Amino acid sequence: MRKIMVLNAKGGSGKSTVATNIASYYATQGKRVTLVDLDPQGSSLDWLDARPAGRSTINGIDGSGGGVRVPRSTDFVVFDTPAAVHGRELANLLRQAQSIIIPVLPSPIDMRAATPFIQKVLDNNRVARKEARVALIANRCRENYNIYHELDAFLRKVRKAPFISVLRETQNYVRAAERGLGIFELAPYSVRRDIEQWDPIVRWLNSKRSYSA
Ligand SMILES: Nc1ncnc2c1ncn2[C@@H]1O[C@H](COP(=O)(O)OP(=O)(O)O)[C@@H](O)[C@H]1O
Ligand SMILES: [Mg+2]
Repeated sequence: MRKIMVLNAKGGSGKSTVATNIASYYATQGKRVTLVDLDPQGSSLDWLDARPAGRSTINGIDGSGGGVRVPRSTDFVVFDTPAAVHGRELANLLRQAQSIIIPVLPSPIDMRAATPFIQKVLDNNRVARKEARVALIANRCRENYNIYHELDAFLRKVRKAPFISVLRETQNYVRAAERGLGIFELAPYSVRRDIEQWDPIVRWLNSKRSYSA
């Protein structure tokens, strides 16, 4: 069972968006997917509630109260996580993950908050021993913004975690989320650019770079 976690101490960085899109991606690939929502806000479970019947099945679990039991038959478990996790809580979360994706927004506040958070994740024992692997993505980017270039430079400088992709700011994510879908499930012509941007994320997740067997 592959265990993927989307993490950032900052709210609004795109954790639920990335988690639900990973779940949708693997579900559309015919994999058995469990989406575990560890956030009491329940955005991922709301997304799942909105998911139309007839779409590839995703099993949802409310993990906000602890005691998560993922069905053994699951191929991919995707964990959506709450904001503001630190210390012991962070260590407990990291224990459950093989592959950790940290989305960061191109805003001064988000970048400032991301620096110590990424460091804490990298300092975690399991991460340091490469039992869990970390990758960074930039989310909601408009390439013409100076701040995007700052974020790009910042993420490239993190030596111990690869910076694997830039997701643009687009209503496609908002529209997909409203309907309980991932961008992989929208009309291909409207999401061509977004699917290109997801390609390196999918490649990372499907490669040995993202987990130790
Ligand atoms: N790339 C994007 N383009 C446009 N809107 C986005 C993008 N990523 C996230 N959003 C929107 O930003 C808001 C916060 O994202 P969300 O995934 O809920 O963050 P988090 O789970 O980290 O709090 C949501 O309304 C979501 O639809
Ligand atoms: Mg969320």
